[in-house]
Order: sequence, then structure tokens, then C-alpha cells
Amino acid sequence: MGDADPINSTMQDREKIITGNWKMYKTIDQAVDFVRSLMNEIKKPVVKVFLAVPFTAIDRVALTLKDTCFVVGAQNMNDASEGAFTGEIAGKMLKDAGAEFVLLGHSERRRFFKESNDFINKKVKRAILDGIRPVLCVGETLEQREQEQTQEVLKEQICNCLSGISSNDLKNLILAYEPVWAIGTGQTATPEVAQLAHIFCRNILKDLYGEDFAVRIPIQYGGSVTPSNAKALMEQPDIDGLLVGGASLSLETFCQIVNDSYSIFDQSGKGEL
Ligand code: PGA
Repeated sequence: MGDADPINSTMQDREKIITGNWKMYKTIDQAVDFVRSLMNEIKKPVVKVFLAVPFTAIDRVALTLKDTCFVVGAQNMNDASEGAFTGEIAGKMLKDAGAEFVLLGHSERRRFFKESNDFINKKVKRAILDGIRPVLCVGETLEQREQEQTQEVLKEQICNCLSGISSNDLKNLILAYEPVWAIGTGQTATPEVAQLAHIFCRNILKDLYGEDFAVRIPIQYGGSVTPSNAKALMEQPDIDGLLVGGASLSLETFCQIVNDSYSIFDQSGKGEL
């Protein structure tokens, strides 16, 4: 998949971010205990470490991590500023609680809650208005891959989810390529397959917003990332970090994945564990 890389970018140009997506796991106490231990284990990561925690834990985790290098975020938000939407949560509420970013368009939201590209597009716009950094998740299903529709699906998701938004408004965008067939299945994309999908996504960004924009946007890989495959994925030139689900719930595996990034991304040689 994908043509030869026409974009002259080096991986050093971009932010490197490893995000833990805790999904619907951890009580407030468990979340706070986890991040306290995390702070002890990882003093000065060479990558940025983001944590997408359950809504209930955002406030306490953000307070616990105040003035550290760790960044707290949410896993979803509504597209409205506020209103009579029982059970929903607004971006400004998340911001108020301490969230700095939000995952949008995660495949579990698309699959179980029937979120469309159009709805996700509205959420991306709202996140920008509310000052929360959007992490847009895209990826094809197994069926789509087998029917060779991967490129078409990625293009449709990226173009529709970013429709009507200027490059200036998207300057803090993070893209996450998460093949649906790899999420929670133990079946990771090979580094080569992931790299080709990342190049393809970056080229779509280039077509939409130009090369200067495309080379600056971090693209994370997600889908069954573990300590045994993280390093090979991060070594790929267009993979700017990882979105880790299951393996981010355990301190041991998450720290190992973050620590594995030292040998790849620490240009100064001063990484301190
Ligand atoms: P996984 O989840 O690492 O458990 O496959 C990734 C994700 O859903 O973001």
C-alpha cells in the first residue's frame, strides 16, 4: 500500500507521544495510585506521555500530575458546547477537570456507539473551540483490508473528520492510525504495514493542507502494542509514537514501552529513567 514517500521529513521534526488509553478501567483511587507509581518509575521521558483516563478520574489524576511532564486527557466528548444531552460530557467540562486532549473517533466509539465521520467532525471542531487538543483515530476493519479498501477508508475518515477545518485550527492535531483488526486482538500490524499506512495518512494531510503541515503532525500507531513489538514500530520513520490500550493498564508493561522509546528517540543521550 502507498507510493514511495514523496514527503521529505525526518522523524526528529515531530513530537513523539506515547498515549495510554485506559478505556473503561480503573477507579479514582486505582488511577491515582497508578500515576504516582508512574512518576517514580519515569522521571524524564524523551517522549511525551499522555494518559486518556476515565472521566471520573480526570480531576484527581490531573491534580496528582500537576507540574509534571505527564499530560491528562479524555476518551470522548460531545459536539455541543452544553445543553440537554443526558449522560453526555462537554469539552469545557473536561478542560475544567484538567483534560488537555481528547481521543475522538476511536473505533470502539464508531462501532458500539455508531459514531459517524460527520459526528466526529463536529466533535473535532468543538474540541478546537474548547481548547482541547484533538487526537483523531482512524483505521480500517479486517473486512475492509481484505477487500483492499484500506486507502479508501482512511482517506474518507481523515477528509470527512477534518472537513471545513483550517490548517491553523488543526496545528495541534494528533492523528492515530489504529487498524480495527489489531485493537485488543493481539494481532499487531507489522512495522512495515503500519509504516505504509502512516505514509498514506501523511500524504492525505499533505493533499489537504500542504507539505509543511503534513510533516509536523504526529501520527501514532495503535492496536495490540506490547513491550515485544513497541520498539520495532517506533523505529519506523513515520510512526511518531503509540496509542496503547491493554498494555497501558499495567505499570510494568507501560513503563517498558515508554522506556523502549529512549534508544530510538533520545537524540541527546541524556534520557533519564
Ligand atoms: P489495544 O488498544 O492496545 O488494547 O489493542 C488500543 C486502543 O484501543 O487504543
